[in-house]
Amino acid sequence: MSITELDRAGGGTATGGTEPAVHAEGLVKAFGEHRAVDGIDLDVRAGEIFGVLGPNGAGKTTMLRMLATLLKIDAGRAEIFGVDVAGNPHVIRQLVGVTGQYASVDENLTARENLWLFGRLQGIASPRARRIATELLGQFGLEEAANKPISQFSGGMRRRLDLAASLITRPPLIFLDEPTTGLDPRTRGQMWDTIRGLVADGCTVLLTTQYLDEADQLADRIAVIDHGRKVAEGTPDELKTAVGDSTLQVLLAEPREVPAAVDVVRRLLGSDPVLSPEQGRLNVALDQADLAADVLIALRTAGISITSVNVAKPSLDEVFLALTGHEADGDDEDVKEVTR
Ligand SMILES: Nc1ncnc2c1ncn2[C@@H]1O[C@H](COP(=O)(O)OP(=O)(O)O)[C@@H](O)[C@H]1O
Ligand SMILES: [Mg+2]
Repeated sequence: MSITELDRAGGGTATGGTEPAVHAEGLVKAFGEHRAVDGIDLDVRAGEIFGVLGPNGAGKTTMLRMLATLLKIDAGRAEIFGVDVAGNPHVIRQLVGVTGQYASVDENLTARENLWLFGRLQGIASPRARRIATELLGQFGLEEAANKPISQFSGGMRRRLDLAASLITRPPLIFLDEPTTGLDPRTRGQMWDTIRGLVADGCTVLLTTQYLDEADQLADRIAVIDHGRKVAEGTPDELKTAVGDSTLQVLLAEPREVPAAVDVVRRLLGSDPVLSPEQGRLNVALDQADLAADVLIALRTAGISITSVNVAKPSLDEVFLALTGHEADGDDEDVKEVTR
């Protein structure tokens, strides 16, 4: 495909229909015995931000790399804007912008030189590459730093430059692999704005994250993955409702009173609390935060003493506990023993 054809694809011919941006069925990637991605179905609609939420090691990067043709798909199949991924790697690479692959930018070149160079490497004529570089530097607030070598860039600036580089060919679909992990809160906010801007310009974004708040802020829909499998999917609201609007975290003075406390909660709310691996700790999903008082009164009436209490928004950990029965970063087997 030539650049002009790409511009047209980005502008709508290839992507303007009802074709999903990503359609995947039963994706599998095995490393030796270990199935890093173990049968994932995925549908990303054109024009949306889709979030893949999961802890370290869940298989997020592996899944993105398969969809971007950077890793072979072991089983299952995937299409991007209706184009079969395994059969048309060259077309797919033109349709998808992947961040993270430009990490090895030349430290001694300036941001402007780097972007120009990437454009040239993609086969774009020099004057046009220069023009695109200037545009992207503006779009990403890197004008002032444009003529500084990358070695002087902060982490946030590097991340923005990396994203800018992935947009040189104007791909209609952008993969962002943990775009804000390790960034400070202000820089995270800037990145969120940048991502929203991409979608406003007509791009589709598939992003991975470990943070519920990030998925919540950005994503139209979320798939939660764990151990290479999808454990839940829905809008942020649907996911949060699955674990309640807020969570009452209770630490009992006597761990042996846990069964009695579970009984009290079940009778009051009609659902069981989630037991934490920590001895004597319960997480109670609440539809409304003010139900917390009712739970505490009921526990006290039953003569169960409490060491500490906390009402919080459900965290990723709680979403995971509720959906999978184990902690997001926990060792599966061990935790199941304790929470049984
Ligand atoms: N090239 C590889 N060789 C062997 N194992 C790998 C390789 N890449 C990833 N893995 C394993 O696959 C699992 C999923 O990894 P990854 O996709 O990087 O997860 P995530 O991006 O969600 O943190 C992990 O257990 C990881 O150790
Ligand atoms: Mg990863």
